[in-house]
Amino acid sequence: MSDAQTLTSPLTVLGIETSCDETAAAIVRGRPGHGAEILSNVVFSQLEEHAPYGGVVPEIAARAHIDRLDALTAQALEEANLGFDDLDGIAATAGPGLIGGVIVGLMTAKGMAAASGVPFVPINHLEGHALTVRLSSDLANDVPFPYLLLLVSGGHCQLLVVEGVGRYRQLGTTIDDAVGEAFDKTAKLLGLGIPGGPAVERHANGGNQKRFTLPRPLKGRPGCDFSFSGLKTAVRQAATNLGELNAQDKADLCASFQAAVCDSLANRTVRAMAMFTSEFGEEARHFVLAGGVAANSAIRSTMTDLASSHGLEMVVPPVALCTDNGAMIAWAGLEHLSLEGHFRERSSGRMGTLAAPPRARWPLSSQ
Ligand code: KG4
Ligand code: ZN
Repeated sequence: MSDAQTLTSPLTVLGIETSCDETAAAIVRGRPGHGAEILSNVVFSQLEEHAPYGGVVPEIAARAHIDRLDALTAQALEEANLGFDDLDGIAATAGPGLIGGVIVGLMTAKGMAAASGVPFVPINHLEGHALTVRLSSDLANDVPFPYLLLLVSGGHCQLLVVEGVGRYRQLGTTIDDAVGEAFDKTAKLLGLGIPGGPAVERHANGGNQKRFTLPRPLKGRPGCDFSFSGLKTAVRQAATNLGELNAQDKADLCASFQAAVCDSLANRTVRAMAMFTSEFGEEARHFVLAGGVAANSAIRSTMTDLASSHGLEMVVPPVALCTDNGAMIAWAGLEHLSLEGHFRERSSGRMGTLAAPPRARWPLSSQ
């Protein structure tokens, strides 16, 4: 049964994202399975505010969200040429993330919803990443459930079976650092600036990936969990052994690190692909790569090869929708609103969601 069976016309939803260092607001109009349009998508990156500290400072992030969010939301509405009366829902990230920022976005969105009578939808940030591929797919390239998802971001590294909206089954997760965190820490160690991931990738392009032998933690072990902290420590050790680092040393370290990440991700993902295809048979068609680290070309190409060797088509949202943005939150809200129960409640103007708490931790599999 289609999730959107009761819906006959598109919904228009405002999405607000403030869980890390991007303040974002967007408006999406669409109908799951029938295409969607991003009417506006405004992202303010706080990079400059955090750069002097070499990483995201939670207090600075929360204050920057307060400073920007009202104006960004107004801009998103203006660019879409819409007012609150035109909205079917207001969705905001309710976690997981830096709690100060989550509170700012959540309370602002609740205030807007309460004042305008538009239904409010609290969204798990990871669910935003997990469903984005359905926002960016068009009619001809619809990505139906179920699909296997590798979510790689600054805070997470998870393998999930996405069976439907709100139905996520975790096959594996990191037991220590997230993969984006490993990129960011490597960049910091080598003095490459922030954001670390793109900087490491750029340097890796001119480096020799065979120069340093780095570990592949958990490789060959049962299950689908990941581990990256040993890899990060090994990079630090290799850098310390060299002493003063020249540009080529840095490039070779980045290339060796990135190759080890690709290999580790592949080793765990291959197990999840085998589980997914054996459980779902013919129904298992898509492998989705999502989250900020999905912007990495080496990881993309490793995963494309792996997916095709398992008869799966790999789908990756456009880079601008892989990193944090408001459109993915709007879309996840739209998917929820499209479900029969929520859609009916819409006419009452409230969904009882205004009491949804902000959460620093919120595993996706407990939706
Ligand atoms: O999904 P995202 O925007 O925020 C979180 O929810 O965490 O992901 C941000 C992460 C950062 O760690 C950043 O360094 C990483 O994605 N990243 C990359 C690349 N672009 C962004 N990592 C590796 N290669 C890239 N090209
Ligand atoms: Zn994210």
